[in-house]
Amino acid sequence: MARLANKTTVSKRVIMTSSTPPFRILFVCLGNICRSPAGENIMNAVVRKAGLADIILCDSAGTMDWHTGKLPDARMRQAAKEHGYDFKGAARQVLTTDLEEFDLILAMDRSNLADLRLLDTEEAYDEKIRLFGRYCSGNKFPEEVPDPYYGGEEGFHMVIQMVENGCEGILAEYQNND
Ligand code: 4NP
Repeated sequence: MARLANKTTVSKRVIMTSSTPPFRILFVCLGNICRSPAGENIMNAVVRKAGLADIILCDSAGTMDWHTGKLPDARMRQAAKEHGYDFKGAARQVLTTDLEEFDLILAMDRSNLADLRLLDTEEAYDEKIRLFGRYCSGNKFPEEVPDPYYGGEEGFHMVIQMVENGCEGILAEYQNND
């Protein structure tokens, strides 16, 4: 089984190979109550199914602190339930120390990505801060995970479908580096 890198200065292609597990993934959105909890919870399910729960550890955070301590949004949890998930979590704001502590930091949209890059003042973590959508396959999904917060319930289902696809892509990249 592949070992995943804990290094911060690895090339784009080898970030998910070699070095010492566990491999820590942080999913980041704006409020940490819709998209990034979907990333954390769905990736946890994917990782559990693959028997890698001790190796790949997931967390999520928001670029803003508006919802600190809150469960994922009730509409997100309802949509998740309809897809067979029980989303857990307590919102928190992303910390500068997260940049060091996590091996892969996945922004749900370009605005989240720009905010993360601003935290990386020395540009030391450039390689591991990435757009989540790069792991999605096919042409069904946009580059960014659309923010469902101000929309209808279909937006929450779309988040789940896109996040499921991308999380499988993350796992596939890990396994391809075996
Ligand atoms: P998230 O969605 O970034 O996917 O958690 C949002 C949550 C809250 C707000 C906006 C987006 N808000 O404006 O409070």
